[in-house]
Amino acid sequence: MNNELDMNRIPQHVAIIMDGNGRWATERGKERSYGHQAGVEAVRRITSECTRLGVKYLTLYTFSTENWNRPADEISALMGLVLTSLEDEIFMKNNVRFRVIGDIKRLPAEVQQKLHETEEHTAKNDAMTMVVALSYSSRWEITNAVREIISENPQEITEETITKHLTTSFMPDPDLLIRTGGELRISNYLLWQIAYSELYFCDTYWPDFNEQELHKAIRSFQSRQRRFGKTEAQVEEEVKDEK
Ligand code: IPE
Ligand code: IPE
Ligand code: MG
Repeated sequence: MNNELDMNRIPQHVAIIMDGNGRWATERGKERSYGHQAGVEAVRRITSECTRLGVKYLTLYTFSTENWNRPADEISALMGLVLTSLEDEIFMKNNVRFRVIGDIKRLPAEVQQKLHETEEHTAKNDAMTMVVALSYSSRWEITNAVREIISENPQEITEETITKHLTTSFMPDPDLLIRTGGELRISNYLLWQIAYSELYFCDTYWPDFNEQELHKAIRSFQSRQRRFGKTEAQVEEEVKDEK
């Protein structure tokens, strides 16, 4: 089943830009919201597989700041799906902690409430943390962080204080960023945090993304050497020393 995955080198943090729901539905002659609904099934599959593999953080781009510019009926269908898909039972069964990042205040009140409840109910689960980015954009997040630092201590604008003021301060940076749906762009997602992430793009629309596709992405990740600015030889030396 694992198909040659190195279980000792599973990425600790996987971030995903879940793109392609609308085109998936359009190709089937359906409404775009039908694609979003199918996307929820993919979220379930991938969350459960990530937990099984030992991924510690899964960060899912679900609704961007720019997505507020979509037609009102699509936005309300998406908000409805957020409400209905947050079932405690699934998080409890998989021992998954739920967290949300983004400009939550812009969401409908009942969605905000459901998000907070789910965070509270799942706070003690510790197999994996699933983070949903909702009304999120990286530029919003960085602007917000800088504003906070200036109001607290303007002398302290360093890489560390910026990192600490981002909404992602409770987790390490992504090791692997996956984008489904064929576009080769980042669309305002985790710009600061992916400075050294490995990037993986695939054409598969999100509703069709499955365990095999996830394994393929992780195999690609495992085949790469992360150098963080050093030379190949330096990194090989470090790996030898670790053994
Ligand atoms: C991603 O799928 C989900 C959201 C952005 C909410 P899209 O809705 O962007 O699907 P496409 O890219 O139009 O196919
Ligand atoms: C990115 O997808 C946002 C999410 C997946 C939530 P978009 O479909 O909004 O991105 P663009 O507009 O194609 O860049
Ligand atoms: Mg899209």
